[in-house]
Amino acid sequence: MGLLDGRAAVVTGAARGIGLAIAQSFVEHGASVVLGDIDGAAAWAAAEKLDGPAVAMPCDVTAPGDVEALVQRCVDEYDAIDVMVNNAGITRDASMPKMSLEDFTAVIDVHLRGAWLGTRTAAAHMRAQGRGSIVNVSSISGKVGNFGQTNYSAAKAGIVGLTKAAAKELARKNVRVNAVAPGLIRTAMTEAMPAAAWEAKMAEIPMGRAGESSEVADVVTFLASDMASYLTGIVIEIAGGRHI
Ligand code: NAI
Repeated sequence: MGLLDGRAAVVTGAARGIGLAIAQSFVEHGASVVLGDIDGAAAWAAAEKLDGPAVAMPCDVTAPGDVEALVQRCVDEYDAIDVMVNNAGITRDASMPKMSLEDFTAVIDVHLRGAWLGTRTAAAHMRAQGRGSIVNVSSISGKVGNFGQTNYSAAKAGIVGLTKAAAKELARKNVRVNAVAPGLIRTAMTEAMPAAAWEAKMAEIPMGRAGESSEVADVVTFLASDMASYLTGIVIEIAGGRHI
């Protein structure tokens, strides 16, 4: 028996990195998945390599019509949407004097507007079904604030507020809304970081190592499953003890 046997799930930003690891874990635990990503070709290539039922769609999470089509695809393909993971993300780091308004807005839009659209769209179906689990991907950056990330830290803190407010609105409908806050996870996003910045972060981690995408995926799978049936509105930090 898999933790997610018979469940249908949507994961955004699933072409690579943490989103792909979440999709992989979901199919390993018995779910059928729809992978959404702004890079539709990469999402399809990823879906074809997954060892289980998976389809993909191009989706820009800032576009309401794209998000609606992505969620609808899951319902059309698998007759339900049991799990929605709002994971898509970008960074546009710069200290405030150097950060353009476009870089601020782009990051807020992908993370916060994207997570809100994904939550609202999935919740409409889940309310009607009388069940569902939504998992939003925040970050330790939203808890402590990172130098050069006024845009990203604000968006990730906003996702925590969104998660808690949505959890309260949806609890009576048996729809749970939770968040994960990863620390330093080894992906394309963090491998782009200068070596000195990587080392400075490593020095702050009590466990003395970066996390792997699969370690985030394990926690998201738990939150998506009935193992977490009495958890809603919480944020689980996945950071090897950093910033506790
Ligand atoms: P990544 O850069 O490897 O993957 C992000 C994916 O999102 C890519 O496939 C990209 O094409 C997609 N994407 C970007 N903009 C999009 C849009 N508008 N619509 C749909 N898809 C879009 O990044 P990674 O590291 O896998 O990050 C995934 C999530 O985890 C992000 O929300 C990130 O902020 C969060 N996170 C990552 C941490 C890390 O250390 N890697 C730490 C904390 C949080």
